[in-house]
Amino acid sequence: MKKRILVTSALPYANGPIHLGHLAGAYLPADIFVRFHRLKGSDVIYICGSDEHGVPIMLRARAEGVSPQDVVDRYHELNKISFAEFGMSFDYYGRTSSPVHHQTSQDFFRVLAEKNVFVLKTEKQLYDPEAKMFLADRFVIGTCPSCGFENAYGDQCEKCGKSLSPAELINPRSAITNAKPVLKETTHWYLPLAKFQKTLEEWIATHPEWKSNVLGQIKSWFAEGLTDRAVTRDLPWGVPVPQDVAHKYNVDATGKVLYVWFDAPIGYISATKEWAQQKGQPELWKEYWQNQETRLVHFIGKDNIVFHCLIFPAMLMAHGDFVLPDNVPANEFLNLEGNKLSTSRNYAVWLDDYLQKFEPDSLRYVLASILPENRDSDFSWKDFQARHNNELADILGNFVNRTLTFAHRYFDGKVPALNELDELDRELLKRLQEAPDRLGQLIDTFQFKAYVREFMELARFANKYFNDKEPWSTRKTNPDSCATTINLCLQTVAALSVLSEPLLPFTARKIWRILNLGERHHWDEFKTAQLKTGHLLNKPEILFKKIEDEVIEAEIKKLKAALENKATPLPEEKIDFETFGKVKLRVAKIVQAEAIPKSKKLLKLQVDLGDEKRQIVAGIAQHYQPADLIGKKIVVVANLQPTKLFGVESNGMLLAASSDDKLSLLTVMDDDIPAGSEVR
Ligand code: 2FM
Ligand code: ZN
Repeated sequence: MKKRILVTSALPYANGPIHLGHLAGAYLPADIFVRFHRLKGSDVIYICGSDEHGVPIMLRARAEGVSPQDVVDRYHELNKISFAEFGMSFDYYGRTSSPVHHQTSQDFFRVLAEKNVFVLKTEKQLYDPEAKMFLADRFVIGTCPSCGFENAYGDQCEKCGKSLSPAELINPRSAITNAKPVLKETTHWYLPLAKFQKTLEEWIATHPEWKSNVLGQIKSWFAEGLTDRAVTRDLPWGVPVPQDVAHKYNVDATGKVLYVWFDAPIGYISATKEWAQQKGQPELWKEYWQNQETRLVHFIGKDNIVFHCLIFPAMLMAHGDFVLPDNVPANEFLNLEGNKLSTSRNYAVWLDDYLQKFEPDSLRYVLASILPENRDSDFSWKDFQARHNNELADILGNFVNRTLTFAHRYFDGKVPALNELDELDRELLKRLQEAPDRLGQLIDTFQFKAYVREFMELARFANKYFNDKEPWSTRKTNPDSCATTINLCLQTVAALSVLSEPLLPFTARKIWRILNLGERHHWDEFKTAQLKTGHLLNKPEILFKKIEDEVIEAEIKKLKAALENKATPLPEEKIDFETFGKVKLRVAKIVQAEAIPKSKKLLKLQVDLGDEKRQIVAGIAQHYQPADLIGKKIVVVANLQPTKLFGVESNGMLLAASSDDKLSLLTVMDDDIPAGSEVR
């Protein structure tokens, strides 16, 4: 066992509030893990903070007409507060605009430069002639070469998830001015990831215990072959490339900054430094980062896997002074009422908004019950209400309340004596004895859903114990037995409070108050009956108020409205007849159709246009089997610029009607109309 544990959660971009997707991915599981380890007495620290660089923040600032600093100042504060209200127990919440961070990431860059790790490349990159700036990452939008989605970003297609570079986009346009970019030469530093592949593969092979969703993604990166990655950008916002380093390469660093994914993970290190400074032990951070006795665990969402499992480790290896992650338990995505979360369409549940209406523990409980641990999962408000009402209120809350009420009514608010035990009593004690190890093991191996399930199972058993023991009748028939029952129920309440703390920190503290206990506890404390006979109890309070239907309906309605907004048609642009006339539509007969390997959506069609044969690539694989298409006469745009999709030439576009996830090809009614006929 390692001596220390260093836990990080992905630094959220400070360009918007936190939503449920964030919480279920990188934050709640980490907080459960950390709280458990604190109760165990482990030497653990938990580091997070705001990621304040990168193009999304600049875009947000532009859209609002304010400076990037204004944006990050606002959201850093907001997110810090909502995280705290949600019970996230960071030891330090830093920010990447801090001087310590700028210094730390520049030093890191300098060390890699001194070790000759980087490759310098001068290449032509997309440049917006109107805005007079290079279009890095999300500053450029275009068609995804992989799936054909027309609004893919320069760093990633949000439709198919493929990571891209701006030059790969088809028909690129500037996100700032909509202008067509031109190519202009620029020089950048690259991390030669390809060279690291073998070392990374060997290192990953030493971690067969990592989650299968994580290893799966890593293996597919390896299979594709790692490629060199630029770690600098031409942007006015970020950590400046140190002039002294650039000088040695004979490059002018003016206007160049570190790529946000280069500096952000170093933010974990800088935040740990600031934590140590704040503690008055400025060197303490090294004990966590530069000592092989540290177990480093990164909690993230699946979109961050490549950065935390390959790129940042490669940086750490290249630097040489740091520990590598021991585990990266990434989660998949959380959907909302069956749809993908979308921040731009406001289709999300925002944490700050949630906290104005509900208790943090209810959300912690429900999210932890449905975490997307191995596959995407779905949050629905009805399920939220059901779990809150039927589990938290009716099982846990009810058990605590009836036990305390009984003790006050019939035992003067004191823990009654523990007398002779029967079989059921012994069964309950056995469960209390076993629970801490069992639940702890689940948490320590990142099986949070199972922990929640087994925790609630224990509460359910306790509630049933109360029923089966019928203290309300033994009170008259067998007072000794009644006392034993209530004693054991109180011992169980105490045990449940500690075992729930990682999950329900606010509720646990309420229970400690009710039980008249202090705030400091050990995970294993209530393995055996520790409450002394005669211990004085405080009055019970309701732990969970039922959530009414109307409240839930209002939330559902809000989400529906957001969905409908999306469906509201944009104001239509009128075109004149001449413009329309430029589009040449013709009847085409499909003579051949086949799937494109590795593409879920695309089919490759050979069509007959009467006087010529054409190849068209179409995104219809999820709607038609190739065999069913042969012989069909469809309508195609015949004079479209040829393009390549998935590396396959496409010469024309077919017409289809679509609605939600349905799609239907346009065909001609009468089969005797010949292929090649014009459509008007
Ligand atoms: O995906 C994101 O939201 C990034 N801001 C996460 C950064 S994690 C770390 F590297 F800082
Ligand atoms: Zn795509």
